[in-house]
Amino acid sequence: MHLLIGVTGGIAAYKACELTSLALKAGHDVRVMMTRRATDFVGPLTFAALSGHPVLTDDSEQALDHIQWAKWADVTCLAPLTASTLGRLACGICDDVLTTTVMALPEGRPVVLGPAMNTEMWFAPVVQRNLRWLDELGGFHVVPPVDKRLACGDLGPGGLAEPADLLAACERALDG
Ligand SMILES: Cc1cc2nc3c(=O)[nH]c(=O)nc-3n(C[C@H](O)[C@H](O)[C@H](O)COP(=O)(O)O)c2cc1C
Repeated sequence: MHLLIGVTGGIAAYKACELTSLALKAGHDVRVMMTRRATDFVGPLTFAALSGHPVLTDDSEQALDHIQWAKWADVTCLAPLTASTLGRLACGICDDVLTTTVMALPEGRPVVLGPAMNTEMWFAPVVQRNLRWLDELGGFHVVPPVDKRLACGDLGPGGLAEPADLLAACERALDG
């Protein structure tokens, strides 16, 4: 499958590297897009080297081609997905190349969401409402965060799901 991984600005951004490698090993063609904030956590060069493709960021030449990238993607996986990008998606705000590309996906192309955040953020009613809202709209498949000791020290749900579980969700989403 053509898998488009969207990385947003969370501490688990490094795990998207593992997801990229895993998907390539499974025989998928992988491209990566990143929010500006995500590039503070992992450099686009890492994903370019891993995926063998240029990375779509607001500052990249590829930004002009985001509609083509949307057409290319059989499945899009946003991992880690921040509370902030989740909120923008739920409101239909397309203020960067990642949210714009998701909005430009042809009808019926699934999006797998791997939210990851602090436990209190995860339980925030607005975050839960945004997830429910996308779920109701259809086409979005949520892979819930796991319980763990988070980078902030809190213990509870909020850790990004395992890359293998995210990839399995993408493969399921493709099969419909
Ligand atoms: C060190 C650090 C770690 C962060 N980790 C997360 C996180 O895991 N999840 C989250 O939702 N926000 C996290 N944030 C906040 C986001 O980076 C912030 O909301 C940012 O605006 C998200 O931008 P983006 O969604 O466009 O990538 C973190 C911030 C910092 C400084």
